[in-house]
Amino acid sequence: MEVKQKVDSCVRQIREKTDFVPKVALILGSGLGALADEIEREMIVDYHEIKGFPVSTVSGHKGRFIFGHIGETPVVIMQGRVHYYEGYSMSDVVLPVRVMRELGAQILFLTNAAGGISQILEPGDLMLLTDQISTFVPSPLIGQNVDEWGPRFPSMDTIYDVALRDQIRSVAKSHQILLKEGIYLQTTGPNYESPAEVKMFSMLGAHAVGMSTSVEAMCARHMGMRVCGISCITNMAGGTAERPLSHKEVSEIADRTAPLFKKLVTETIKQLSD
Ligand code: HPA
Repeated sequence: MEVKQKVDSCVRQIREKTDFVPKVALILGSGLGALADEIEREMIVDYHEIKGFPVSTVSGHKGRFIFGHIGETPVVIMQGRVHYYEGYSMSDVVLPVRVMRELGAQILFLTNAAGGISQILEPGDLMLLTDQISTFVPSPLIGQNVDEWGPRFPSMDTIYDVALRDQIRSVAKSHQILLKEGIYLQTTGPNYESPAEVKMFSMLGAHAVGMSTSVEAMCARHMGMRVCGISCITNMAGGTAERPLSHKEVSEIADRTAPLFKKLVTETIKQLSD
């Protein structure tokens, strides 16, 4: 099925269940799932209920849309996303972003767990995304362009919206949440990086590395959405020679940082109501 038809079909199926129009689309990364409890829920749609919708295979990743309000702001939350390493095509990986755009979302708020590359980062830090390197994964925009979504050759000049970044910084400041900043690099995963790769990514100017987010940001910019993103630095990329990196360690730090992360995200979204 063509990409546009697939998106339209998913939108139609969701519209049979709810006429909710979100302003903000929020994608929750590892450990942030509990944020969905903060929302005044109006409707939940399980990804399984949507024929053709990609469903995550990673344990601990739930898969559902939650529609509702954070403060006065109408949001759609994705509790669980699919990753390229699961074997989906890039167009399936970004399909949820396109669906949320078609449901009315104007802003995409991305969150993830990432490995720190820069020495200014340490596990447990939150990092505001200022730019990204997506050269190591295929572009989600490959294939026939859908002109009503966006241009064939979209600019990626300013992927992470300047005004949203300012808002997130000011929320962090007023709640005394330490917020670092940097450039995020996406790999395909599922493997973590070798020391030589971490060194290469550092030389390329990346501050953190993860397995999601950049392609979603690119797709959203193509469709004219405003985008912002925050990483939870769960570990130093590549781990250390003494202690190999594990998914368990990543999950534990993500869980521990979750309350602050949640505060920063929800307080920012509350400000986006008008
Ligand atoms: N590398 C890639 N992805 C990740 C990491 C990492 O070190 N930590 C959490 N997600």
